[in-house]
Amino acid sequence: MTDARNTAPEQEPVLGANEDELEAAGVDLTVAEAAAPDREIAVEVGENIVEVRNLTVKFGGLTALDDVTFDIKRGEILGLIGPNGAGKTTCFNAMTGVYKPTSGDVLLEGATIKGRKQHQITRMGLSRTFQNIRLFGEMTALENVVVGLDARHRTSVPGALLRLPRHQREEKSSIDRGMALLEFVGIADHAGSLSRSLPYGYQRRLEIARALATDPKVLCLDEPAAGFNPAEKEELMELIRTIRADGYTVLLIEHDMKLVMGVTDRIVVLEFGRKIADASPEEIRNDPKVIAAYLGEPEDDVA
Ligand SMILES: Nc1ncnc2c1ncn2[C@@H]1O[C@H](COP(=O)(O)OP(=O)(O)O)[C@@H](O)[C@H]1O
Ligand SMILES: [Mg+2]
Repeated sequence: MTDARNTAPEQEPVLGANEDELEAAGVDLTVAEAAAPDREIAVEVGENIVEVRNLTVKFGGLTALDDVTFDIKRGEILGLIGPNGAGKTTCFNAMTGVYKPTSGDVLLEGATIKGRKQHQITRMGLSRTFQNIRLFGEMTALENVVVGLDARHRTSVPGALLRLPRHQREEKSSIDRGMALLEFVGIADHAGSLSRSLPYGYQRRLEIARALATDPKVLCLDEPAAGFNPAEKEELMELIRTIRADGYTVLLIEHDMKLVMGVTDRIVVLEFGRKIADASPEEIRNDPKVIAAYLGEPEDDVA
């Protein structure tokens, strides 16, 4: 699935066009090097890394998010669940600068995101995937990830694509790190494929690799398993566990309650834009308010 952002870059893309080119560029296709070798792994697990404070988003007369407050603790996988239309994506959009909150605030390591644009918030350390996949369809899988990596590097994308000599060292390291990320999410064999030609499940994984490329402190995933069969969902949950084990903090939106139970440390539940619960998966499973919120949903989605 692609959208309007999936336009080809003006330069002729040269990265990852085929295996020979990758080899010529000195890329080890089985690179085992960590994707972000100089990343500082947070040790203070448990302190608040994100504080969502009285966040409200209105669309005309509709209050999509209504005075929502919750924290994300460093090192945890926090689930954000609720029936369709509950405000989950709106919450992400307000946290990541897609929408300007009507009121309230979001703090990342104590710093407000108020007035910051999407790319600035990404740079602050909050990166995300989209419920509807947004990749550069005419770029290869590897190029999609390198674009994300570039957000942290001095080298500009056009420079990297044109292989200007002064960019070469950093470019090689970008390619290596891009390959490591593709390896990490399990799609390294498809590095040279155009992202639009990848199977749907691989596109979802590529989105995660691209979000990780910005070296986020908090990775926000909006229904990353949407459209997956149960086996694929379980594989994806395993990947999310691995991401957390690697030192990332994860905010996971998921509509399917059963799915989040096995992977999250804590769950925040939204209904009609309001927070109705914030507790451990076990408590959420037995919370009458949550059960009631999910009644009337298709049976598959009820725990
Ligand atoms: N850009 C928008 N303009 C108007 N209404 C919107 C917009 N985005 C979301 N909404 C509305 O806000 C409510 C919450 O939507 P959303 O956050 O997408 O829910 P969820 O992700 O939990 O399914 C819904 O009623 C939806 O129709
Ligand atoms: Mg949504």
